[in-house]
Amino acid sequence: MHLHKYEKIWLIFGGGSLVVFLLILGFGAFYLGTHPQSHGATIDPDNLEANEAFERENLGLTQVDEDRYIVNVVASTFNYDLGDDEEGNPVSHIEIPKGSTVLFQAVTQDVIHGFNIAGTNVNMMVEPGYISSLEVEMNQTGEFTLVCNEYCGVGHHMMFATVEVVD
Ligand code: CUA
Repeated sequence: MHLHKYEKIWLIFGGGSLVVFLLILGFGAFYLGTHPQSHGATIDPDNLEANEAFERENLGLTQVDEDRYIVNVVASTFNYDLGDDEEGNPVSHIEIPKGSTVLFQAVTQDVIHGFNIAGTNVNMMVEPGYISSLEVEMNQTGEFTLVCNEYCGVGHHMMFATVEVVD
């Protein structure tokens, strides 16, 4: 079989483009840890407490095993509800020991909110009717800010909490 010179060049170019495309895709998906969308389960936004995880006393940080934690959050305009502390004051700061595996579960009772722990790989959209969840290992110490990165109204910029990873 005889291939014309240009035919050969374009075949190589085409094949090469495919390889480059797959490499970029693989780099984004595996090396950078890009994850699929985090909305697995559904929830009634008008009755969040029907789900045990989002009952008032189960909000915020809960230790479930030696190095495993769950953080349940109810987002609303313009607040992240992390439950109350012992004195009954709303929690806006949580501390997690370095190296812990943390399952973040977030829901919204009104509009779409964001759930981004700046400087980490935690970045979810929180949509009415869905439970957004993501499990991560917190290996970097420091104080991180949980911010809303979906515009949700006039108080959007006031919507934040802090997550501290301690040694
Ligand atoms: Cu909530 Cu922006």
